[in-house]
Amino acid sequence: MNEHNILRVLDHDLTEYYRYSPEALDSQISAVRKRLSDRVLILGHNYQRDEVYKFADYTGDSLKLSQEAVRRNDREFVIFCGVKFMAETADILTSAAQKIILPDLAAGCSMADMADIDHVESAWQELKEILPGTVVTPVTYINSSADLKAFCGEQGGLVCTSTNAEKIIRWAFERREKILFFPDQHLGRNTCKRMGISLDEMILWDPDQKNGGNSAEDIRKARVFLWKGFCSVHQMFKPEHVSYFRTQYPGIRVIVHPECSMEVADKSDLIGSTEYIIRTVSAAPSGSRWAVGTELNLVNRLKRDNPDKEVYFLSPMVCMCSTMFRIDAQHLLWSMEQIEAGAPVNQIIVPETDRSWAKVALERMLALA
Ligand code: 13P
Ligand code: SF4
Repeated sequence: MNEHNILRVLDHDLTEYYRYSPEALDSQISAVRKRLSDRVLILGHNYQRDEVYKFADYTGDSLKLSQEAVRRNDREFVIFCGVKFMAETADILTSAAQKIILPDLAAGCSMADMADIDHVESAWQELKEILPGTVVTPVTYINSSADLKAFCGEQGGLVCTSTNAEKIIRWAFERREKILFFPDQHLGRNTCKRMGISLDEMILWDPDQKNGGNSAEDIRKARVFLWKGFCSVHQMFKPEHVSYFRTQYPGIRVIVHPECSMEVADKSDLIGSTEYIIRTVSAAPSGSRWAVGTELNLVNRLKRDNPDKEVYFLSPMVCMCSTMFRIDAQHLLWSMEQIEAGAPVNQIIVPETDRSWAKVALERMLALA
């Protein structure tokens, strides 16, 4: 994002768009979409609101959407209805001629913000002092900023998503003894545990403490360093919610996203990405019962699309991703109108200094995916 675009966004008042009825918004979006025709590709993450999701040319999880952005390199503009790290990923993977638009620049990811390049570089230095030589592979969850992906690319590491974390971690262990996994401790822990790595081989890395809060001996013994990050939405699911559904609804199957804590994942029947959750529940037999532990918009849609099944939201709390929610029909319409007017806004541009190494880290992942 450049300064010019930030100013344009701050200057822009969308009040008039909020006066339109939902029907008027729908018809204006459809009309401008038609006029823009194949200049534009709209990608929609599975957590998007229905009012936006229904206009997406492709929907999916982070992996599927990044693959789609690469495949559709014929479109001049990709409007990414998701969050900033996804739009950055699309910008890294697409050609220089393609422009990636994030309809609301405030759509970030609080988990991605829990790791920054300064903290990761100092953790790397501390690890190097205790572990001389090249023994650690940095692995970043795709929910991270472009400079962290670049760091991984340059240091022989790579990116993973919730779909391929196991494959990626296996690749890393085939090359070096240890991994530094950031920013989501839960995806790291849940995946490594399922791969047979014991909990005492994993240590938490607190970026605000010297050596992550660990002794040199603990660091020498550990195989996995888990960054102390988490998703504020998925941390709302608790093991007691799983127990509640099992007691109240005999035979229910519990399916959760791997960003949930280990205590929740261990009590669940199935664990996987948003796309995996949708695919699994959609393909389940009529009459089956499901409790789903991921973002509310996705679960509500799943409920509506599977009226022959009982689909429940796993938490009594409202667990919505407030940043995903920022992309609404008003911002979608506005960003398309600006493209049509020849004055596109909110273009996401990854700086050249990060682009090439970040691309290496992403391509290592895509080659394995
Ligand atoms: P998926 O890649 O599974 O869609 O997850 C992205 C995400 O941010 C989940 O919180
Ligand atoms: Fe980030 Fe959590 Fe929102 Fe996913 S649900 S985008 S991890 S804050």
